Amino acid sequence: MSKKLVALMCVALFGMNVSFAQQFEYIGAAKCKMCHNKPQTGKQYDIWASSLHANALKSLSSQQSLDYAKKNNIADPTKEKTCLKCHATYYSVKEDLIQTLTAQEGVSCESCHGPGSVYKSNAIMKDQAKALASGLILPTKEVCEKCHNKENPFHKPFNFETAVAKIAHPNPAK
Ligand code: HEC
Ligand code: HEC
Ligand code: HEC
Ligand code: HEC
Repeated sequence: MSKKLVALMCVALFGMNVSFAQQFEYIGAAKCKMCHNKPQTGKQYDIWASSLHANALKSLSSQQSLDYAKKNNIADPTKEKTCLKCHATYYSVKEDLIQTLTAQEGVSCESCHGPGSVYKSNAIMKDQAKALASGLILPTKEVCEKCHNKENPFHKPFNFETAVAKIAHPNPAK
């Protein structure tokens, strides 16, 4: 067999490997709640559930949205893909990566922390290196700026430090 052929086969095999690799899929906030809603470790779920992120879909039916829609020939902002892609995780990710994430949950945990289907197990979550290798994201400014940018008709200047402080949900046990 020629060296060239062997090299080509290696490339093909490597390609197959990649396509069989485990995908990280979106499971939704209800799955995180099981482990992340205890008072002693910070009730992350409740803090998020009462935040504007979890309720971001409501803004699309506010008077402000309706006025904007009227002026810009948008029939219904609550059904408008160009608004939904920033107001709900569900509409911002590839459809075939959605496991149990729901459209109703607005900007959910996984928009900031990455798709959780693989890192969600206790054994992986407890080991930061493993969790990061399994899709967990500890968000940087760039993650926020996927949505906090001028494409939003109601954009306000975004300061990462101040914004992170506003949505803080730390684990007091750490
Ligand atoms: C089976 C329980 C369990 C589930 C389900 C779970 N986690 Fe965790 N998670 C943990 C444990 C345990 C830790 C380690 C202690 C800590 O940092 O709070 C952790 C840590 C984290 C951390 C901090 C990581 C670090 O290194 O600072 C983040 C962020 C996180 N989880 C997000 C999520 C999100 C988002 C989901 C849902 C998609 C989720 N977790 C689902 C148990 C779980
Ligand atoms: C998937 C899109 C998306 C991502 C990613 C995102 N946000 Fe937001 N954020 C929104 C939307 C939409 C709103 C407005 C919600 C509303 O008022 O309807 C918002 C509102 C906020 C607010 C105002 C809430 C308040 O209580 O005043 C803060 C602060 C904020 N985001 C911080 C952040 C930070 C920090 C990050 C990154 C770690 C981030 N956001 C990532 C979409 C996103
Ligand atoms: C690029 C992402 C993005 C797009 C596209 C987007 N939004 Fe938003 N929207 C945001 C973010 C982020 C905020 C929070 C802004 C802030 O507080 O800094 C927000 C806030 C809002 C608010 C609250 C404004 C306020 O002052 O309280 C309304 C209403 C709104 N958006 C409606 C819409 C409508 C209607 C559309 C579609 C025509 C749309 N958005 C498209 C990201 C987006
Ligand atoms: C808008 C973005 C955003 C959303 C939505 C979000 N988080 Fe976070 N999360 C962050 C940021 C930013 C940090 C802080 C990282 C740091 O301290 O550097 C964080 C930290 C954490 C931590 C670690 C706390 C600690 O002190 O160790 C956990 C656990 C966590 N988030 C779980 C969740 C869960 C569960 C949800 C949904 C119910 C969620 N987060 C939703 C942005 C977000």
